Amino acid sequence: MKAAYNTDPIKYIKATNRDIAIFSTEGENIDAEVVESFGDEWLKFHDFSDEIIHDIAKEYFDLLNDTIVNKTTYAIDIGCGTGRWTKYLTEKVGFVEAIDPSNAIIAADKLLGKTENVRLSKASTETIPFADETFDFAMSVGVLHHIPDTQQAMKDCVRKVKKGGYFYCYLYHNLETRGWWFKTLYWLSNQLRKVVCKLPSKLKRFVCDVLAIVIYMPLVLWVRFLVLIGLRKIAVKMPLSAYNNKSFFVIRNDALDKFGTRLEQRFSKKQVETMMQQCGLEEIVISPLSPFYHAIGRKK
Ligand SMILES: C[S@@+](CC[C@H](N)C(=O)[O-])C[C@H]1O[C@@H](n2cnc3c(N)ncnc32)[C@H](O)[C@@H]1O
Repeated sequence: MKAAYNTDPIKYIKATNRDIAIFSTEGENIDAEVVESFGDEWLKFHDFSDEIIHDIAKEYFDLLNDTIVNKTTYAIDIGCGTGRWTKYLTEKVGFVEAIDPSNAIIAADKLLGKTENVRLSKASTETIPFADETFDFAMSVGVLHHIPDTQQAMKDCVRKVKKGGYFYCYLYHNLETRGWWFKTLYWLSNQLRKVVCKLPSKLKRFVCDVLAIVIYMPLVLWVRFLVLIGLRKIAVKMPLSAYNNKSFFVIRNDALDKFGTRLEQRFSKKQVETMMQQCGLEEIVISPLSPFYHAIGRKK
């Protein structure tokens, strides 16, 4: 099932559990600072327990079923980060290739431990080291909105999918269905992000921990209180309601993810659909559920 690389790696490095092939990550459609920042982030936050992974996966992967992913599936996780979803995928499919251009690939090696049906490679969307139309299933979760030209990056991913295979992605939504006060809060937090993301990495991590306590936790506790007194319908409309059942570890990680990243782009549902169509995908389904927007399409 495992395909041969279609380019020679620059070198191999010995990680704790496996050798990792290193490919060039230079290119026009990559933000080197963003990648470095993610490398730092994931080397700190990689201790995802199986329980946390399965818990969050229920929300991210509600669109998958046994027809789309099963033990005959050859899959690729593009921008795997810590490999938390790679790990989830290894339980469902035959073999997973996981690539990331950052040092997170080392964290992924740790998280995946001795898992056998996976190979890790350091590469980017522009340097995916496999021939076109290799995979039955490709996914890119929370990655493409951190790449300068999201549409081009998506095309580079979908090229690697076989005809009739599936492409799954999660892209930040542009808050189009939210009220003015929600959008105002986002605008304010985005101004803060523009400052925080420029801090040196240790200070950035510290500031994001503080933000997790002073911004995330009060809102999350408010949501939990509303749920407790039976006002779930109101609670789900509140900012950060998605963190209602999440641990503080996940909240800290997401605070660093959201405030620590220099480049993030946001899309409407229509834009997500159009981008997927432009890549030659059909049977596109965009989940009506959080996290917004996660979507799947089938390659024509
Ligand atoms: C928010 S993280 C998501 C990681 C993982 N998919 C997850 O959901 O846990 C974004 C990841 O995209 C990777 N990334 C950034 N630019 C990329 C590019 N041009 N090609 C591939 N991956 C990229 C980063 O290194 C980072 O690990």
